[in-house]
Amino acid sequence: MSGLPPPVGIDQLSFCTAGSFLDLKTLAHAREIDWHKYYDGLGQEKMAVPALDQDTVTLAASAALPLVQHLNKNHIELVLFATESAVDQSKSAGLFVHGLLDLSSNCRVVEFKQACYSGTAALRFACMFVAGCPNKKALVLTSDIARYPLGSPGEPTQGCGAVAMLVTAHPRILALEPESGLHAQDVMDFWRPHYRQEAVVDGKYSAHMYMSTALACWERYAAATGRSLEAIDKFCYHLPFTRMACKAHAHLLKNVRGCEPTAAEVNRHIKNSLHYGRVTGNSYTASIFQGLASLLDHTQEDLAAKRIGFFSYGSGCTAEFFSGIVQEGYGLHLFSKQHGELLAHRTELDYEQYKAMFTRCVPTDGGIHTFPQGHTGPFRLAGIREHKRIYERVQNSPA
Ligand code: HMG
Repeated sequence: MSGLPPPVGIDQLSFCTAGSFLDLKTLAHAREIDWHKYYDGLGQEKMAVPALDQDTVTLAASAALPLVQHLNKNHIELVLFATESAVDQSKSAGLFVHGLLDLSSNCRVVEFKQACYSGTAALRFACMFVAGCPNKKALVLTSDIARYPLGSPGEPTQGCGAVAMLVTAHPRILALEPESGLHAQDVMDFWRPHYRQEAVVDGKYSAHMYMSTALACWERYAAATGRSLEAIDKFCYHLPFTRMACKAHAHLLKNVRGCEPTAAEVNRHIKNSLHYGRVTGNSYTASIFQGLASLLDHTQEDLAAKRIGFFSYGSGCTAEFFSGIVQEGYGLHLFSKQHGELLAHRTELDYEQYKAMFTRCVPTDGGIHTFPQGHTGPFRLAGIREHKRIYERVQNSPA
């Protein structure tokens, strides 16, 4: 037996998004803007719009259900919930999910926050926990609803989604490598004060910070590993909108090598990671892992033993470049069919329906409110009573 520690990483991952969407051609028409700006300029086609009875908890629980339903739940001793659209200032959203999934009480449950980056932090912490206790498992939940003011430049980049990841030793999908390239800096490019439902953003500055930190993180990762860009087979980026990843990747290749990359090369590296983000919109903490699911679900060639590079960016800002190796036989453990069905069965909204759904918020008066059943997955927010959120399992929903 070798004395090396076992590989640790993502054993399985699954995503969920809202049951309704707005086509950005519809939004462009309402805003009197050429729809090519959204489809081509931002690289976005559709935005997922959550119903009143769908929030970051129900999205995360729905994403996690396929991972835990056939598992001995006693092995999960850590649940980390990464979000920047928390439902409570005190209680971790992870505890609602813990209850909905009927997990063991022998468990640590904590919420993580640092904009879109906190999902990566949660994954890294979960890997450290499992490395120390290789017979135990951790559940990492990344879940967000991206909201900007109606009519603002950020509006077409809205969206929502959750990705759940089971982190284990000897993972069946992706073994994470230990090295990272990091960058932290106190900047105000995007933020959301407690009293606001919508983010405040300095859009062009945020894009500038994203691009410059991608390069800074790569340089630190390259110095730590001695690897060149050629050592990375595919790349997954945080996806505020898919054109952002294309621009940042081209910027990285150009600055590292000193010459412009071809569009074909950029596509070969990242195109398959963009499909889901293009039709859900930004899902903040979840978006980079939704990119991984998209890459694995859509790539025909066998990715086993290939190295994937990840650039995770969270406004404010913290960023990290890291990598992982795809495991032999990974294709047997994907939820590609469920992901495809989820997206195929969504309901399209017209502009007025979107506006009505955007404007309706959970009441804050402390009264008793029940919510109509929207187009949700296996869990829903049934109502709120004296400020307590009431969640329930949807009868006869597909698992
Ligand atoms: P904008 O005003 O729409 O920008 O805002 P624009 O006018 O520059 O247009 C965007 C692109 O569309 C441009 O392409 C135009 O040329 C093109 P580029 O020059 O960049 O290559 N365009 C067209 N293309 C085809 N046909 C046309 C046409 N017209 C124009 N007719 C902005 C864009 C990103 C600023 C805005 O959407 C925004 O504020 N978004 C929110 C912030 C954001 O997503 N920032 C990204 C980096 S920060 C990040 O990722 C963190 C985040 O996820 C939060 C977190 O960490 O928690 C946001």
